[in-house]
Amino acid sequence: MNILPKPFRIEVSEGSFAFRADGKVATDLPVIASLFGGADAGSAVKFVKGETEWDYVLRITSKGVTATARDDEGLFHAAVTLLQLTGGSLEADLPACTVYDKPRFGYRAGMIDVCRHFYGVETVKKLIDTMALFKFNHLHFHVSDDQGFRLRIDALPKLHQIGSERKGTCGDGKPHGGYYTKAQIKEIVDYAAERYIEIVPEIDLPGHTRAIVAAYPELSCSGKPTEVASWFGIHSKILCTGKEGVYEALDKIFAEMAQMFPCKLFHLGGDEVAKLEWAKCPDCAAVYRKEGLKNLEELQGYFTNRVINMLKKYDKTPVLWNEALNSGMLDKSAAVQYWTTDRPSAERVAKAIAEDGRKVIMSRCNPYYLDYPCGMHSLKAMYKLEPADELGEGSEKGILGVECPLWTEHIAQEKELFEHFYPRALAVAETGWSPKGVKDYADFEERLKGVLFLLDRRGVPYVPVAECNPGKIKSALSAAAFGMKMQRGCDPTSARNWRSMSLKQPKC
Ligand code: ACM
Ligand code: ZN
Repeated sequence: MNILPKPFRIEVSEGSFAFRADGKVATDLPVIASLFGGADAGSAVKFVKGETEWDYVLRITSKGVTATARDDEGLFHAAVTLLQLTGGSLEADLPACTVYDKPRFGYRAGMIDVCRHFYGVETVKKLIDTMALFKFNHLHFHVSDDQGFRLRIDALPKLHQIGSERKGTCGDGKPHGGYYTKAQIKEIVDYAAERYIEIVPEIDLPGHTRAIVAAYPELSCSGKPTEVASWFGIHSKILCTGKEGVYEALDKIFAEMAQMFPCKLFHLGGDEVAKLEWAKCPDCAAVYRKEGLKNLEELQGYFTNRVINMLKKYDKTPVLWNEALNSGMLDKSAAVQYWTTDRPSAERVAKAIAEDGRKVIMSRCNPYYLDYPCGMHSLKAMYKLEPADELGEGSEKGILGVECPLWTEHIAQEKELFEHFYPRALAVAETGWSPKGVKDYADFEERLKGVLFLLDRRGVPYVPVAECNPGKIKSALSAAAFGMKMQRGCDPTSARNWRSMSLKQPKC
């Protein structure tokens, strides 16, 4: 049966149900009615609340269909399963069966970077709408980076007035910008909530902050004016750890973001911090001395923990990219998102699970990063990744779930955005939901082909399944093209800075 993600258990019985006429269903939930032909209390297809140990139970007999769940979210999941079974037809003969279903992980997410290229509300809603059809329940929203700050923060208006606009992209001389108003964020958050998806906002700190520093140069170590980055790569104009104004500004940003995003998870970034300016800054040096720190990693640890403490008053659970573990002092309340592929990082993450009970989101760059082409991160590779395998025995208990990030340095159009996301993200949807140990790629591919009508119907582009696992030659060519694109996109100065960066202690 073409259900994706594969349900926990299906018991097939004799006969079938003719899902006919207007396709209306008995439901109180408008979002479920909208998936079918509308709502009609007299329909033989019913969605009812009731006690069950499952997320939902979907029973199809020759007389009708009954979906049962404890809550609206379970009923919605039953509805998308039923929708998939119709194969896109409101005149379908549904096989008699009972589906017993529940998710493997509580966190099943995609990520969209709206900083490197800005995408408007309608595109974000289209992404949310389609993700919900495959039982994703979080969208990680990367809204602050070197190339743009995408929120309106009333207390710090230069963040959107200056920080949301850049002069060009990799030398093209064409201004690029955009930000979301508070009303637009509410529209996105509410739309997602109706589909049981929570928006996890990310303000990447203390690196990847050149847009913030362009708006408020006094928040950097040097205090010198700079511009929103128009090249990619890693930038060294970042927030200072020693200026109180930085923490005051962040407090204002958090206060407004906490209002905008009700999700308990709140991403604080923490990746790729080029600490060049910290090493020369008297204010950073003063912190360094006062706190008795041993290296610049610990200075990042000090900054991160201080920021985490500020976030506590909003009752949020912080999430950080895995480099935040490098200081060895990350606040125990923080979850970690694993993305790098190096052995020492994997060992740190495994140790954090074993010794601190740390919760981890699996987003290993290879193969989960969707901005890489299929020739590098194939559908098959994405499907095969088992979240805890690399972390070793006993690590599965720390896995909160899975997430496939989509960075947009080289993705400027909506069509490409969706083609990078689909269908590969659906391999991650299945890993996040389906029980462990049932993976069978050929079966997955067959079911995948059977549910793509959901994207076709919404006019959402995707890469044909036949092109998702290219052979060796095509893969080598696409890897070479991708490498060149990455290199061309990097400002030669920042790239050189990054390579020559040493983690020397500041001269105190
Ligand atoms: C990352 O890809 N820098 C988290
Ligand atoms: Zn400083």
